[in-house]
Order: sequence, then C-alpha cells, then structure tokens
Amino acid sequence: MKFFVDTADLDEIAEAASWGALAGVTTNPSLYARIGGNVEDFPKHIKKICDIVDGPVSAETMAEDAEGMIADGRELAKIADNVAVKIPVTPAGLAATRVLSRENIPVNMTLVFSVPQAIMAARAGARYISPFIGRFDDIGEDGLSQVADIVTAIKNYDLLDAGIAGEEVEIIAASIRSVNHVTQAALMGVDIATVPFGVLAKCLKHPLTDNGIERFKKDWEKVVGA
Ligand code: E4P
Repeated sequence: MKFFVDTADLDEIAEAASWGALAGVTTNPSLYARIGGNVEDFPKHIKKICDIVDGPVSAETMAEDAEGMIADGRELAKIADNVAVKIPVTPAGLAATRVLSRENIPVNMTLVFSVPQAIMAARAGARYISPFIGRFDDIGEDGLSQVADIVTAIKNYDLLDAGIAGEEVEIIAASIRSVNHVTQAALMGVDIATVPFGVLAKCLKHPLTDNGIERFKKDWEKVVGA
C-alpha cells in the first residue's frame, strides 16, 4: 500500500514528504478552503505541491457538466506532469473521465460509495478510484466493509485495459479518520491510503517504539561510561 497525504497545507506536505514514504497528495475544495486559499491562486498552489511531491497530486474540478469538467481537466493537467484530475462519480463525471483518460490525463474518481459506482469508474477509464470510509461511517454504515467489497469487486476483473494504456486502476482508501482505518485498508489490499496529516503522524507513533529508544539510550550510556 502506498501512502498519500490528504491535505492542501504546504507545510504538512513538506513534512510528510521528508519522512521518505510519501507517494502522492490528494486535495479537495474543502481542504483548499481550510488553508484560506483563493480561486486565482489555485493553479499556483497545486504547482507548489507538485514540486514538493514525487507522485500524483489530485486537484478537483468544480464544473458540473461534462464539457466543463473536460475543459477544467485539460487546464489542471497543464499545471504539472503529476496532476491527477479529481472528478466526482456522476454521469457527467464518467463522460468526462472517458474523454480525459483517452487523452492520457489521469483521473481520480472521487466520492465513490458503492461497488457499481467503482466498477463504472474503472470502465470509464479512471486511473484512481476513491471510496470514502469516514463519511460512510458518519451515516451509520460500515465504511471499511464497503471499501473491502469494492476491492474484491475491482480485483475480480482484469481492468488493465480499462484505464490509461498499460496502467492498472488503483484504489485509494479515502476519508480516513483513524490509524485503524489505515491498518484495515492495508489488510484488505487497497493500493493507496490517502491519510490526513494528523492521522499519518499517529501512524508512526507507538509507545513501545518510544520506550525502546529510551531503554537503548540508557543502556548505551552504561556502555559509554564503562
Ligand atoms: C479524498 O480524496 C478526500 O479528499 C478526502 O479523503 C475526504 O475526507 P473527509 O471525508 O475527511 O473530508
């Protein structure tokens, strides 16, 4: 499983990248609003993220019709080679994905909450499919088991030829709220987990790791003093 960070905050992205295991970034309009971003600066901001991270950076289109999504997608793709265009799984979104994927523009199909939506996204040519865990939990459903079903269904089929030539569809577990979400996503075999910075930091923490470092330090002091 690869780790993406789910944020538009440049400091968080730089910090996560410095840990050496970051493979990409996902942003969305809410995350950009959270850092006080304005619409004019959006392309520049995405470019800055693309310069920090060696991997795909998802930037979302806000158009609602297929023509608008295609136009936005083409513009977003010009920002940098590693932009993935984020498009919601609607009829217009699928139509736009079909066109953009045939132009070799990678699409991250977002707001996926069911197996049929996921399969349709793959068939339309999405490079990434993002089923949401936390938001499903929020409505009293089991987000993890929904994602597990999506993983099973997608892996049931040979979708190599569904997306961009030669590149397999990858499932991104999104809307992650806890370390357990990350653990379970890995166990069910998702390709990527996109994780908020705070949860990513928690993933690295373990009291026994800290305790072990302390004990080794104390014992080494004995060696040095011997
Ligand atoms: C995915 O790409 C989305 O940006 C994200 O995971 C949404 O998470 P949320 O439900 O915590 O807003």
